[in-house]
Order: sequence, then structure tokens, then C-alpha cells
Amino acid sequence: MTQPFSFRCDATDGRARTGAISTPRGEIRTPAFMPVGTAATVKAMLPESVRATGADILLGNTYHLMLRPTAERIDRLGGLHRFMNWDGPILTDSGGFQVMSLGALRKLDEDGVTFKSHIDGSKHRLTPEHSMEIQRLLGSDIVMCFDECPSLPADRDRIATSMELSMRWAARSRAAFGDRPGHALFGIQQGGLDRDLRAQSADALRDIGFDGYAVGGLAVGEGQDAMFDVLDYAPDQLPKDKPRYLMGVGKPDDIVGAVARGIDMMDCVLPSRSGRTGQGWTRRGQVNLRNARHADDPRPLDEACTCPTCQGYSRAYLHHVIRSQEIIGSMLLTWHNLHYFQELMAGMRDAIAGATFTAWQAGFHAMRADGDI
Ligand code: GUN
Ligand code: ZN
Repeated sequence: MTQPFSFRCDATDGRARTGAISTPRGEIRTPAFMPVGTAATVKAMLPESVRATGADILLGNTYHLMLRPTAERIDRLGGLHRFMNWDGPILTDSGGFQVMSLGALRKLDEDGVTFKSHIDGSKHRLTPEHSMEIQRLLGSDIVMCFDECPSLPADRDRIATSMELSMRWAARSRAAFGDRPGHALFGIQQGGLDRDLRAQSADALRDIGFDGYAVGGLAVGEGQDAMFDVLDYAPDQLPKDKPRYLMGVGKPDDIVGAVARGIDMMDCVLPSRSGRTGQGWTRRGQVNLRNARHADDPRPLDEACTCPTCQGYSRAYLHHVIRSQEIIGSMLLTWHNLHYFQELMAGMRDAIAGATFTAWQAGFHAMRADGDI
């Protein structure tokens, strides 16, 4: 019998790997891109449309949902899957990172973090135990440890102290999560851009034991070169037989570079958020549909794209609805962008399986123009 939650690697090509995570709610093909559904919605998209772009799993956020509509209410209404009408797997982030980036007047201590809501200023507290309870009430399939992450640049002492606190919180998260067959708990590696701190963090997490391991604390302002330097060693510090998840990344070239370095899962608001501001992502590069040069252009956003947006609408129409702030502008661009990101992942999965990933990467980079296309 297969485990209720398990990871298998089907093929590797260099350090890149492809396989699948099995969950009771379905399989997640890896490398996987997870669209972000922060507030129980992938903004501007119906769940069946998100599914149609090729997504196997969504990401939700403890921080936002605990404030509104609250985890208790979602639990009473049958859990997050029922509430938002998505029956596939959901991964939830644990809240610590969002408190640090969004919450006002936050106060950190050994036990947890107190903060004011960015919505109404009300006071709240999160601890590892409370974060585990919220993610249980939501019915999350993949639960993330409660962690803390300093914004970079920060000095080594600050990063070390923070990483050590996150590792104590990881042990408390593990204990509070308990044994929940069919649900997974992922640890989060911290340690900034320091190889030794990253190794210490990986060892601490491995000793505790998790169902998967995230690389946290990146894409926080360090730049792609510094991030890739860390990804040249960080995935190898984590267990081989479990999924590796790079949190909050990224642009298409960040994603490709991360997969090439052994990452299996990623999430980012980029395809959905930038879609709402008129930014299209294509195999040839970025397109700003607000630009006046599209006003009379009858061509689709990307001639080679099979998404409903590119099948039915011109750049001129997209330009018009984005400029007019029509709701359909957000819908059409988000759909195209999510479709493009999922096609990117599918292309990489096929190339890794066929041992042609190096050539695929060369093609990916050769296709891209600098600047707006
Ligand atoms: N999202 C992006 N980076 C991080 C991180 O380091 N920790 C958590 N919990 N979420 C993230
Ligand atoms: Zn398209």
C-alpha cells in the first residue's frame, strides 16, 4: 500500500529531479508551482480555472485567514477546501513570515510573536502551537512550521540567533502537530546566506524529522546571484528522499535556476499579482499591456500560447480592459500568467524525465528577450 503522504523521485538530470508527491487529495507533480490563494481565493480566478491551468496544489495563508474570516469559522463551515471549493491539496504557510512583513507593531519573544492586524489594528498572538492549531482547523494538507526570518542584509549574529529560535520553534511545531496520517508537516531551513548556519539549520531539522523541507529566508532582497549561491549547496544539505520547497520564488528564470539546483516545489504571487497590474509573462519575456504600443495590436499576447486569453483576445483588447480597470483584465492576464508558469513546470518535468534538461534550459534562455517584448 502506498503511504497516505509520500514522495517519489522518478528521474534526475544533473541536480534537477522530477517525480510526485502523493496525498489523499491527489498527486502533486514535481517540480511543482503553487499558485497563491492567500485569502481563500486565487484572486480573479475560479478554482476550476486554476485547475485548468495545470495547478495540482494551492497555497493558503495562516496569517490572513486567522484574521479574516478566522480559522474557527472556516472549520465550522467544513474546512478550507469546502469553503473555497478547491478539492485538491492545499499547503498553508504558518504566519510568522507574514507577521514580519505585514503585521504592525510586532513583538517577538521566545514563545511567539504578538502583532497588530493590518486590517483593523486588533491585537493577536501567534506561537508554534497556535499556528499548528490554526492550520489543523483550516484542514491544510501540507502544514508549514512556525518560523521567523530576518530581512536581508542582516549581520551574522542576528541571522544565527533568529535561525536558532526558528529551530526551537520547529521542534515545538513538530510536537504540537502530532501524528496526523494523510497530512504532512514541513520544516523550514533558515540561516541567511551563510553556508554553516544553513548546515546547522538543516541538521536540526533532520534530527526532528519532517515530511518535507523548505528553504526559507530567500528572495528577501538578496538578489538572484546570492540566492543561486545558496541554492548551490542548500538543497544538498536537506534529505534526498523528501520534497524540497523553495518559499516565495519567483520569476521564471529564478524558478528554472532553482529546479536546476534540486528544488521540487515553489510558490509566488508574481503570476497573479502582476497580472492584475497588466504584466504578462511569456516564453519570450515580459509584456506590459498598459503600454500604448499595444492599443491597435490584433495579435494575441503570445501566439504560441494555448490559454483561453491567447485563444480569444488581442493585445489591443487586453490593453483596453487593463487601462479601463475592467475586472476581466485581471481575469484574462492572471489566467494567461498561471497557464504560462504551469507550462514552464510541465516543460521542465518532461525535459528532466527525458534527460534533456540542459538543452531545455539553453532553449529557455535563448528564447527570452531583454526588456519588454
Ligand atoms: N515565504 C517566503 N519565505 C518564507 C520563510 O522564510 N518562511 C515562511 N514561513 N514563509 C516564507
Ligand atoms: Zn496565453
